[in-house]
Amino acid sequence: MCGIIGAIAQRNVVPILIEGLKALEYRGYDSAGIAIIEKGEVRRVRAKGKLVALEEELAKGSCESPMGIGHTRWATHGVPSVNNAHPHACGDFVLVHNGIIENHQLLKRDQSQHHFESETDSEVIVHLLNDLSGQCDGDLFDLVQKGIQKLQGSYALAVMRTTESDSVVVARHGSPLVIGLGVGENFIASDVLALLPVTSRFIYLEDGDVARISTHSIEIVNAEGQKVDREVKESTLEVGCTTRGEYRHFMLKEIFEQPVVIGEALEGRLSNIKVLDPMLLGASGTKIIELTKRVQIVACGTSYHAGLTAKYWFEQWARIPCEVDIASELRYRKPVVSDGTLLVVISQSGETADTLAVLNEAKSMGYVHSMAICNVPESSMVRGADVSLLTRAGPEVGVASTKAFTTQLVVLAMLAVSLGRRFELTSDFEENVVNQLKQLPSAVSQVLALDGRISILAQTLVHKHHALFLGRGPGYPVAMEAALKLKEISYIHAEAYAAGELKHGPLALVDEDMPVIAVMPDDDLLDKVQSNLSEVRARGGRLLVLTDHDHLEEDEYTTVLNIGTVPKLMRPVVFSVALQLLAYHVAVLRGTDVDRPRNLAKSVTVE
Ligand code: AGP
Repeated sequence: MCGIIGAIAQRNVVPILIEGLKALEYRGYDSAGIAIIEKGEVRRVRAKGKLVALEEELAKGSCESPMGIGHTRWATHGVPSVNNAHPHACGDFVLVHNGIIENHQLLKRDQSQHHFESETDSEVIVHLLNDLSGQCDGDLFDLVQKGIQKLQGSYALAVMRTTESDSVVVARHGSPLVIGLGVGENFIASDVLALLPVTSRFIYLEDGDVARISTHSIEIVNAEGQKVDREVKESTLEVGCTTRGEYRHFMLKEIFEQPVVIGEALEGRLSNIKVLDPMLLGASGTKIIELTKRVQIVACGTSYHAGLTAKYWFEQWARIPCEVDIASELRYRKPVVSDGTLLVVISQSGETADTLAVLNEAKSMGYVHSMAICNVPESSMVRGADVSLLTRAGPEVGVASTKAFTTQLVVLAMLAVSLGRRFELTSDFEENVVNQLKQLPSAVSQVLALDGRISILAQTLVHKHHALFLGRGPGYPVAMEAALKLKEISYIHAEAYAAGELKHGPLALVDEDMPVIAVMPDDDLLDKVQSNLSEVRARGGRLLVLTDHDHLEEDEYTTVLNIGTVPKLMRPVVFSVALQLLAYHVAVLRGTDVDRPRNLAKSVTVE
């Protein structure tokens, strides 16, 4: 949801801003812009569309400065256009903003003397700063501290002032912001990934912080206006961890990384027979699960599907009561929280606004303890939860989540076991799960070897307008995730149904133009799914069946994709990888922008 960057140095920072914006493009890509201060004046270069359009704009003339800010946008208020692109300027001030100013209309009413060039909520901030500068003394640092008192909503912002060309001022409330420390130069960005080429040392700002960034100093005040020191952290991420390498798309690279990252997610957390609680949960996590009587999972999108899958594991493996909710729903429905409920938020980014809001409100909602399952170690959720389990998938750049999802499943399986031991999960069962988890990297590699076959099967879907995914039991959330994947990157309308629900409505849609993709593991529900699929065949529907059953026959209506021998308890992981590949190949054949599908962004930091 928009990425911001800023730099102040003793060299030209424009290439740093552009490289940084490239790394932030996953956060939004409908327009981009930069601002520098040139001869005491603000100079902005902005362009509609992806970053390449901004680069073309910049190539038209020279643009150099030792200080600048930049932005890549995901539109919330106002269409993608040059006028709506950041940075926004007024008088001496120029600003980039990520987040939503909820009271922007109210503020705008007091700014009738200003000409608004954009339809954005963000522009009110720059007018506000300009007005404040006429009403009170103080430098940019003071004015930003005063200005943010009037803002409601969420923001990470960076501001420059033409009369103070020795500093950039930033503020954070509810949207991520890091300061990157260099030698004689400093930087700010929404995400460390944007700054890895220039530094590996970072300060993660807290909500309410305002900071003045100069070439040789950083000054931070907290929400109470008190000067604070924030810890400097060394990032272990390497430059290049977000390059595509030999792969055509990030999504494909990330799909193929799964055997390795699943191995990473398991590393050090298992013995031959057990999940090692101290390694998985740490001392505080181990204490928390001792007190847990039930689990409430909260997440959005793909992470929600991971939670739905885990519900089967918590309940079936261990009889742990488990509810799963979409964050934006739970947040406003005032749930009745039973004693001993552990709130588990799941998020790749750890910044998703709705999920984060639930976490932030956890205590007042009645949850005594919270846990974050997350891929980004320094994210707001990891820092806000009582305990966090990292998925260790490495940076995921493709908007469509793949390796983050399967590693979430792996971590959730381990959690189900650790927690389940306190319920009805036996040590034999635990050993079984541990063995099967260990087989996962090779089982996933085996599915990846089917890539060629899957790319051929994708041809049968490429001209379709709709697709129906079916599954039962843990296969149902797998079908939901597959439908989400197909729709978000190929733009084919896809829906998932519990196979048993077919006859209660969706069967009416089935004809030869409605492909039906069935997730049919060789489990206790196989016969039930078979019957549901007969209902499709009887209506002339065309089936693509994914299964690990050895003897499933094809017929004129049915194509079978056998995914080989699979660790049975871990089927959702393995089946999901095959379905990721299917969605990927359909999207490639349809010529969509696989890594940056229209209207979406990777990190949804607005409500
Ligand atoms: C996944 O393919 C989606 N792009 C999306 O549903 C995503 O999973 C969702 O926005 C939640 O993100 P999070 O895991 O970072 O919280």
